[in-house]
Amino acid sequence: MKVLVLNGSPKRDASDTMHITRAFLDGMLDVADHEVHTIHVIDSHIEYCTGCFACMRNGGTCIHDDDMRELLEEILTSDLLVLSFPLYCYGMPAPLKALMDRTLPLSSMAMQRVGERYEHVGQADFSQLRYLMICGCGFPNSTHNFEPAIAQFKLMFPANRTVITVPESPMFNAPEAAPVTEPRLALVRRAGHQYAENGTIEPGVLAEICSPMIPEEAYVSIVNGAMG
Ligand SMILES: Cc1cc2nc3c(=O)[nH]c(=O)nc-3n(C[C@H](O)[C@H](O)[C@H](O)COP(=O)(O)O)c2cc1C
Repeated sequence: MKVLVLNGSPKRDASDTMHITRAFLDGMLDVADHEVHTIHVIDSHIEYCTGCFACMRNGGTCIHDDDMRELLEEILTSDLLVLSFPLYCYGMPAPLKALMDRTLPLSSMAMQRVGERYEHVGQADFSQLRYLMICGCGFPNSTHNFEPAIAQFKLMFPANRTVITVPESPMFNAPEAAPVTEPRLALVRRAGHQYAENGTIEPGVLAEICSPMIPEEAYVSIVNGAMG
């Protein structure tokens, strides 16, 4: 399988969230060889979409000649698109959002009704693609926090998608938290294994991955204590 990882954290490899993503990919690689390419989005030259809609009218060419041309080619030839990003203001970080906006050339101006909503008709074939969102965040609570990012991801990718959200994710970069982060990463690796084998993750495993690693109050007290 050809896996394209879009790392939306400006911290690149030092990203808290990328610990989760790497564990998941390790689990996938336990099952079979996969071609994995990770792109640190912050290092790509991606101009903002200007909203001119030229790409939707002219068969898919954007007015900007930047890294997005190659990125779109790579998206179209991948089997799995992984969006790995930290929660920023209840959504995705701006560089990754800019990239998402620039996928507009994959759609035409034409609209079609699908169930209870409308979508643009594709002008490229990306029906083979599966989508995975892996999102870490700094607060211990998942509700009243991840919902906007999850809703956006599900609307952007209505089919063939899986969502992993992990609260308290700065703990992945704290060596002293290893007693709780290591078992969690082992579980994420198991999830990656399951996903590579069956295309799904057992609901119980997913629920545990998405739960806080230590009680909310304990986490907050450690964070507040570290602030001095
Ligand atoms: C600009 C900014 C906005 C943030 N917004 C949220 C938020 O809405 N909810 C939350 O729980 N954490 C928020 N955080 C915390 C990050 O999600 C958290 O530090 C995360 O672990 C960073 O992951 P990374 O190392 O993968 O970039 C925010 C951090 C920054 C810098």
